[in-house]
Amino acid sequence: MRAPVIDGLLVAVDERCELGCKFCLRADVGREALDLPTYARALSRCKEFGATSVCLSGGEPTDHPDFLDLVRVSVQFGYACSVVTAAREGDRLKALSAAAGLLSHVTVSADSLGAQRVGATARTVEGTAAVFEALGHRRASLHVTVWELTDDDVEAMAEIDERFGVEFELSPLLLTDHQLKKATAGAVRHQYTKDLDLLMSRFGLSARFRSAVDNLDRAVAGVLDRSCTSDRLYLSPRGMLRRCPYDKADEVDVRQPRDGLAQGIRALHASHVLVGSRCALVCGE
Ligand SMILES: C[S@@+](CC[C@H](N)C(=O)[O-])C[C@H]1O[C@@H](n2cnc3c(N)ncnc32)[C@H](O)[C@@H]1O
Ligand code: SF4
Repeated sequence: MRAPVIDGLLVAVDERCELGCKFCLRADVGREALDLPTYARALSRCKEFGATSVCLSGGEPTDHPDFLDLVRVSVQFGYACSVVTAAREGDRLKALSAAAGLLSHVTVSADSLGAQRVGATARTVEGTAAVFEALGHRRASLHVTVWELTDDDVEAMAEIDERFGVEFELSPLLLTDHQLKKATAGAVRHQYTKDLDLLMSRFGLSARFRSAVDNLDRAVAGVLDRSCTSDRLYLSPRGMLRRCPYDKADEVDVRQPRDGLAQGIRALHASHVLVGSRCALVCGE
């Protein structure tokens, strides 16, 4: 039987995150961080299955004490290494700058003013200017989580576009179950549509946003989602490989002996997973 081919790895380097966005939907929340030997082992084994890229996410990857080494070891193994970060200043920005030259891409996360209110975040769009400046290259994009979008948000985004010309990624804020209790499904869908209309009138259609809204609509309507076709695996901070970040029932420990791990990776690859609205946003698949 031919070995399955893995495109790459989405890596959650830490279960903790001091930023504490109230809407955060990362799959692994706790106190553990990924250690270098476990990460190196995952890189080595997944390379045998053809993996060529890694995306370091989290938690907040730049808070990891070995962030630079995680990037270095990825590159040493021949991977294209990207990062998703909410860094803006201080030690986080220093860590990001130190690794910038080695990174194939940096996605800088920001929130619309409405999303900042819901999540009690300070991840402003304006604040990303310091990050794009510090990077010293344009292998970067601005990822905005959108909720109750206003003209002020759109102006801030347009300014970043004008100054840095980086790619934009927009996704609707996915409310947590707790936050959803305070709003009807109809009201939430109405807000998504309003945000989408404003985006379309100012920037043209965002395909990613449209498909994320479609996914959310289908989830709210109880329609079964499509099968996941991703060839990327997820590595948790505890060194567990999963096909889907949220499917903790189906995971493989990268520290097990080579044969067992290879068998586990084959089984993960062959497993049938449905795309939900959450993973569609987190994975971008
Ligand atoms: C879990 S974070 C980890 C990386 C890093 N801490 C950051 O925030 O960029 C990965 C991405 O998920 C997005 N995200 C988290 N919760 C979300 C939600 N409820 N709705 C939409 N996007 C969300 C973040 O904005 C970020 O772009
Ligand atoms: S979205 Fe990112 S920055 Fe915010 S709490 Fe989650 S992991 Fe931390």
